[in-house]
Amino acid sequence: MVFETVGVVGLGTMGAGIAEVFARAGIRVVGVEADQEALDRGLGHLEASTGRALEKGRLSAGEREEILSRVTLTTSRDDLRDADLVVEAIPEVMEYKVALFTDLDRICKPSAVLATNTSSLQVTALAAATGRPGRVVGMHFFNPAPVMGLVEVVGTVVTEPGVVTSVSDLAVRLGKTPVAVGDRAGFVVNRLLLPYLNHAVTLLDHGVAARDDIDNAMRLGVGLPMGPFSLLDLIGLDTSYEIMGVLFEESRSERHVPSPLLRSYVAAGWLGRKSGRGFYGESAAESTPEK
Ligand code: 3HC
Repeated sequence: MVFETVGVVGLGTMGAGIAEVFARAGIRVVGVEADQEALDRGLGHLEASTGRALEKGRLSAGEREEILSRVTLTTSRDDLRDADLVVEAIPEVMEYKVALFTDLDRICKPSAVLATNTSSLQVTALAAATGRPGRVVGMHFFNPAPVMGLVEVVGTVVTEPGVVTSVSDLAVRLGKTPVAVGDRAGFVVNRLLLPYLNHAVTLLDHGVAARDDIDNAMRLGVGLPMGPFSLLDLIGLDTSYEIMGVLFEESRSERHVPSPLLRSYVAAGWLGRKSGRGFYGESAAESTPEK
């Protein structure tokens, strides 16, 4: 399987990061967004991220130009007709994703692989929405995509074995380490990570320790790059809450009950970096909200 042109649908933080990763590896990218405004925001992400690398001397001006020139931006899904692979990174709403996969199946050539960057939805259900279920996989990147070294390659019961191998080989070409995982809620990383993050919120809620102390404890005591509250703000509190919900739905285990405090923050619209306020952010209560 040769991947020369790759489509990325959805150019939010993750999608734009994924587009950058492909372009940096010398692959042509067709980036698709719903409207011009979203497309401009996607381009903004790409320019900011490569601009930062230029400032830090990690890229020359010429290299940055080349990377950006490999990315074609469009609002028309029909422009994906020549793509060898399409990675979907739209919001985590099953209805939207099923509609998108049905569309991609119609537009893309029969040999194209269709991948989802979903962190919580069932890949098998998306595969079943297409006439090529054997060529649908999960390709799960981590935030920030240009930096994090892992890609979870999710095969389903209907995936052709060669497709998982080819997509894993592609991840290596991108400079990432692939791990093959089954289509179970949370795959490997989120299944282990989210219960820990959720538990940190419970500790805060129960007054066991303050936000900064919990973050410092896990950074300095365990050597993690970020404490749980910084990481929740990076991932997004809504995304984190949804993943906990999916874990709970599958396991019905008490371990996976989403924290009520996390639920309140999401209901308040405090979603983390994306909304300017989460556990940190402008005028956020230091560590003991709702008390
Ligand atoms: N986009 C592109 N590059 C970025 C970036 C971004 N958003 N953020 C940071 N970088 C780059 C910087 O340019 C810098 O590059 P350089 O080494 O070439 O100069 C490098 O990353 C380090 O950045 P900084 O020096 O600014 O900051 P830190 O050293 O504090 O690193 C971090 C920032 C990489 C985010 C680090 O704190 C980290 O690894 N945090 C943990 C992130 C994590 O766990 N992510 C996974 C979340 S789970 C997930 O995504 C799954 C999903 O399904 C929920």
